[in-house]
Amino acid sequence: MLTIAVSKGRIYEEALPFLEEAGITPIDDPKTCRKLILQTSRDDVQLVIIRATDVPTFVEYGAADLGIAGKDVLLEHGAESLYEPLDLKIACCRLMTAAPKDAPDISGRIRVATKYVKTAQRYFAGRGIQAEIIKLYGSMELAPLVGLADCIVDLVDTGNTLKANGLEPRDLIMNISSRLVVNKAAMKMKHQAIQSLLDQFEKTLAER
Ligand code: ATP
Ligand code: PRP
Repeated sequence: MLTIAVSKGRIYEEALPFLEEAGITPIDDPKTCRKLILQTSRDDVQLVIIRATDVPTFVEYGAADLGIAGKDVLLEHGAESLYEPLDLKIACCRLMTAAPKDAPDISGRIRVATKYVKTAQRYFAGRGIQAEIIKLYGSMELAPLVGLADCIVDLVDTGNTLKANGLEPRDLIMNISSRLVVNKAAMKMKHQAIQSLLDQFEKTLAER
């Protein structure tokens, strides 16, 4: 049996059609069913439905053999312990800095609100900018509006969320898409099964 970890939100919306094209269709719909382990049209493949940020952890510890995770989450988790063989090119967006529209650049120490603490630390340190990082779990766009931070590091797609809150995108940190990750031990122990799934996924991607 191969177990694939998928998150329920945004990634699932795009991962489901991809998996279906690759011949893996869940028997139950996770939107209407409360099951966290979903059997699929393939007897040898099951899905576990978890939080997006938990996908690397499940795969790293071998609780899932494979997973689908955003590059943003992998960067923050530190993905050295995982194989990342495929860019699935789904849930595409950009990890960016953003600040209130027309706000002048701040010289000296800045306060940055984000849920990507390590990534933001690395980014600002790499540019020689002193930054105090404030960890938030959501609604980052609010932080500059209420004086909690000078700017934010967050995901941007259409830019509508920034615009609706009087912010503007500033610097691109990285283009983001979802990646297929694989547990290193499983890659050895279940090599044939995983390799044939990877081949199938690659074929499906090429046909898109
Ligand atoms: P959690 O449930 O763990 O708190 P979350 O609420 O951030 O995570 P989602 O909003 O479903 O979960 O986002 C999951 C992933 O989808 C992100 O890690 C990112 O890779 C991608 N993503 C997030 N926002 C966007 C967006 N606006 N456009 C495209 N992809 C996005
Ligand atoms: C993500 C991200 C931004 C928004 C950007 O949030 O955190 O807030 O999408 O997308 P846009 O540029 O198209 O407006 P999401 O909608 O996933 O909600 P969240 O706060 O639960 O992360």
